[in-house]
Amino acid sequence: MRQAFKASVLHCLADPGEASDPTALQFFDDGLLIIENGRIVEVGEAATLLPQLAADVAIAEFPGKIIVPGFIDCHVHFPQLDIIASYGAQLLDWLNQYAFPAEARFADESYAREIAAVFLNELLRNGTTTALVFGTVHAHSADAILEAAGSRGMRLIAGKVLMDSNCPDELRDTPESAYADSKTLIERWHGKDRLGYAITPRFALTSSEEQLAAAGRLASEYPDVWIHTHLAENKAEVEEIARQFPESRSYLGVYDQYGLLRERSMFAHCLHLDDEDRSCMAAKGGAAAFCPTSNLFLGSGLFDLRAMRDANVRVGLGTDVGGGTSLSLLKTASEAYKVLHLQDQALPASRALYLATLGAAEALYLDDKLGNFEAGKEADFVVLDPAGSSLSERRTRVATSIEETLFAITTLADDRNVAATYVAGQRAEIK
Ligand code: GUN
Ligand code: ZN
Repeated sequence: MRQAFKASVLHCLADPGEASDPTALQFFDDGLLIIENGRIVEVGEAATLLPQLAADVAIAEFPGKIIVPGFIDCHVHFPQLDIIASYGAQLLDWLNQYAFPAEARFADESYAREIAAVFLNELLRNGTTTALVFGTVHAHSADAILEAAGSRGMRLIAGKVLMDSNCPDELRDTPESAYADSKTLIERWHGKDRLGYAITPRFALTSSEEQLAAAGRLASEYPDVWIHTHLAENKAEVEEIARQFPESRSYLGVYDQYGLLRERSMFAHCLHLDDEDRSCMAAKGGAAAFCPTSNLFLGSGLFDLRAMRDANVRVGLGTDVGGGTSLSLLKTASEAYKVLHLQDQALPASRALYLATLGAAEALYLDDKLGNFEAGKEADFVVLDPAGSSLSERRTRVATSIEETLFAITTLADDRNVAATYVAGQRAEIK
């Protein structure tokens, strides 16, 4: 079934960079997006495409709105939804005070299912159509989020957390159970519908060397599953890694040594790296999730986007809720702008859009399916409303370019600026 959507249409063809290369962006002020069976058929000027459109194709019109590709969240924890905005601690204390108690509640499978549904509704309300998601140590946490995403038709990747050290007893697995449970979940979910599985060691501080080795063994048995973990987020964490792994050159070296650095590895944060780490990550095809709201909220540090991209590391945005303070990738992009501004780096709105769409798809090796409106890709998209709030309406009314409009929407954004979210061509029903 063919459908058409008439509005302004904006998407990235490449990374616009710090100078906002105009050839990296495609914008149709009066545009038309044509889709069929959940995939993109064509995008272009309405004046060009409408005369060729068959008379029976339904056209949904969104005057004054901007259609962009669905947002992709490269790092988020669904079990931490209810501890978002918890006061006063840096990473290691925050884990003990807030994250671990919240995750312990997921021993109750029905509670896990309830939060999974609420979490996905919140993603869709914010225009996020794909995410790479941490569960808890409980295998049923991965079942809960993947089943809920499958029932909504979403492309989503998740995994059960592996953790057998430095954590409360009720959240502890073993190298053997981590391996066996993850393998069962991979067989159950990876490649089913639009779902994928990520082997998810929490971070090197909460896995024994036996467990890291088991994760690496599993990764080598399943070369096309994702690997999802945290890296070099907090100074005290990095110092503790150096104490626990004295033979490793760096924190990244620990993961590399256990076979956890490769294509489809996603490392959240990556704040305290050196040039050698960055070139090693790029060479092996690993990617970084830039999580500015979390990095500011937990006082972790400033992500160096210029150094990462100069080294050719793949980078996407992550919200990192509950360490992060919003599920909105627009708000996340606005905080990214400020983090980079503090380091004399530019983040034009076009590049922020890239980091939330095509860049994230490249970081997750999903750019053959997602990230922009190339023919054949999956029809996940967002209808942005520049007039979603009275203030964004006033500000965007006087904007004179799409870059200025997008920057104002991003800087002022909340979920009122997301008029509708489409998943595989279907409007998402958000309860
Ligand atoms: N490092 C290890 N676990 C976590 C977590 O849950 N959140 C964040 N932000 N960092 C972590
Ligand atoms: Zn995280």
